[in-house]
Amino acid sequence: MRLVFLGPPGAGKGTQSEKLSKELNIPHISTGDIFRKNIKEQTTLGIKAKEYMDKGLLVPDDIVVEIVKTRLLESDCKEGFMLDGFPRTEIQAKALDNALKEMGLKLDCVINIEVPSEELISRLTGRRVCKECGTIYHIKYDPPKIEGICGLCGGQLIQRDDDTRETVERRLKVYRAETEPLIKYYTDKNILITLDGNKDAEEVFEDLKGAIRGCI
Ligand code: AP5
Repeated sequence: MRLVFLGPPGAGKGTQSEKLSKELNIPHISTGDIFRKNIKEQTTLGIKAKEYMDKGLLVPDDIVVEIVKTRLLESDCKEGFMLDGFPRTEIQAKALDNALKEMGLKLDCVINIEVPSEELISRLTGRRVCKECGTIYHIKYDPPKIEGICGLCGGQLIQRDDDTRETVERRLKVYRAETEPLIKYYTDKNILITLDGNKDAEEVFEDLKGAIRGCI
């Protein structure tokens, strides 16, 4: 199964991809996570990406496309993959189509998760992530058992640098301008499935499993 998760920042793409990756045993590829790992390791890519991410802007297409193309050639992607946060522009979407075509593959479906803007702001400003294993929490909707500590690995929970209200608002604007047009792009290809993400995460996951059954 090869699928893409589309949706605004905070829609729950990461939360749902993590669950589905375990269920289907195929890799969850998040371009945001790849950049954050590089920032942590202070690589040249990380230093470059941080300039854009801290401002809530998109990292340039050529950089992102190369990273994803290389990642898709790795052996764990043979049986499928799920892309979270890529593509985000029409240039990226076309580059993905071309890369898959060269590999003799195509996308099975694109899952578009919809959530109202006010809810997105509250989800993002309340999000906490484990510094060690990346598990996602929310101070209100999905709090850890012990405040500030990851229930899975005991790591420290931190707030992402781009989850401040000002940067979240910028990210939402960028999403509307650059990424939302991909809804039409994939609708025209007849592979878009829209889910109501404004429900409990477990309910969204049940809807997601039902939706992908129809596109295998
Ligand atoms: P990225 O890391 O991809 O961030 P994003 O797309 O902005 O998405 P988020 O991770 O913020 O949200 P999500 O939808 O995954 O929500 P989550 O599940 O965590 O990108 C970051 C930056 O990297 C970009 O701004 C850009 O600079 C750069 N970048 C990345 N990819 C790029 C690309 N392709 N091109 C160019 N630049 C790129 O959930 C959010 C919160 O809500 C959590 O606290 C969670 O617990 C909670 N939650 C989840 N579901 C529910 C629910 N159903 N009910 C209540 N709470 C919920």
